[in-house]
Amino acid sequence: HQQKQQPLIEAHQAAAQLYHHILLNTKLGEAARNYLAERQVSADMIEQFNLGFAPGEQVLQSFFAERKTDYQTLRKTGLFIEDQDGNLKDRFANRLMFPIKNANGAVVGFSGRLLQASDSLPKYLNSPETELFNKRRVLYNYDVARKAARKSQRLLLLEGFMDVISAMQAGIDFGVASMGTSLTEEQIYDLKRVTSNVDICYDGDVPGQKAINRAVSLLEQTTQFNIGVIQIPGGMDPDEYRRKYGAAGLQKIVKTGREPVIKFRLRYLRSQFNLEQETDKIEYAKQATKLIATLDSSVERGVYLKDLATDLDFDQASLQEQCEQDRKRQQRTPQRVEHSVPDSEPLQREQ
Ligand code: UTP
Ligand code: MN
Ligand code: MN
Ligand code: MN
Ligand code: MN
Repeated sequence: HQQKQQPLIEAHQAAAQLYHHILLNTKLGEAARNYLAERQVSADMIEQFNLGFAPGEQVLQSFFAERKTDYQTLRKTGLFIEDQDGNLKDRFANRLMFPIKNANGAVVGFSGRLLQASDSLPKYLNSPETELFNKRRVLYNYDVARKAARKSQRLLLLEGFMDVISAMQAGIDFGVASMGTSLTEEQIYDLKRVTSNVDICYDGDVPGQKAINRAVSLLEQTTQFNIGVIQIPGGMDPDEYRRKYGAAGLQKIVKTGREPVIKFRLRYLRSQFNLEQETDKIEYAKQATKLIATLDSSVERGVYLKDLATDLDFDQASLQEQCEQDRKRQQRTPQRVEHSVPDSEPLQREQ
């Protein structure tokens, strides 16, 4: 198995080096260099993440032809598109290239970002599924973060490539990205192998909130995790936040902005109601007490019930009584289904 993968890995490493060289040392790479400068990505990060550029020419095709790399190997890399006659053409064109590594640090795939937004092309184009690359199984930066987490005893779960790189540039080396895919069981298994302390720091926009809700439920279902949520304000993502508030700003929110899952859940639940309407207020109160009822500490239940009563201007004693009833009911049912906020719409997945 390992033996069989070796030529594919070597092709990926060589491609990464070629893209990297083009980015740094050629005229073709100029636009991408400017793009990275505009996004305030440091030279160190360009090196550390081995960023590159795939120009609009058939660079890989000619590179591998010169090295006389075996045709079947090239086909299996997924780095080419095959026409009807079996000719191979570079898959990635005019894209900033992010090599994606497996847990051992070997390059197994790529994602390429357009330098400019397009209506017809996806912002990020990923390697297809290959013998090496299974998108469900990789976490971006896992090879580095799993070592860093020995010290931090904590992993930061981010959405995207630039969030991981921005965090790293701010000295936060324990960030991984699920890369826009909804978090998978395979990824959760890999998180768990490192630490149980996982803080979710997805984008502050609406899809990000939805994705946090889903990730929290999945993590809670799978195994014992100590989960936190770091909410980026203003609808920004962590990278945008760093660019606005600097490395110190991002460090601060990661260091001190961790909130318990219940707080996130209550806020998320609240956002789904129109609290101007009495019926919505009542329904929200009912669902919120159910969430609060899952907390094992009566002190904590008291705190959140008090907040809820104040927020809705409802009688605290009634909320408390409701919560007690919910708790009894939950203790009779073996599964803690009440724990997850239902999310009726299916998650839309990015390519
Ligand atoms: P976002 O839409 O939040 O992009 O998707 P981003 O990470 O902020 O990217 P920038 O800052 O505009 O460069 C989050 C992640 O989802 C995946 C990528 O991994 C991206 O980083 N994604 C997104 C795709 O795979 N394909 C896409 O077309 C879009
Ligand atoms: Mn280099
Ligand atoms: Mn996003
Ligand atoms: Mn984002
Ligand atoms: Mn972004």
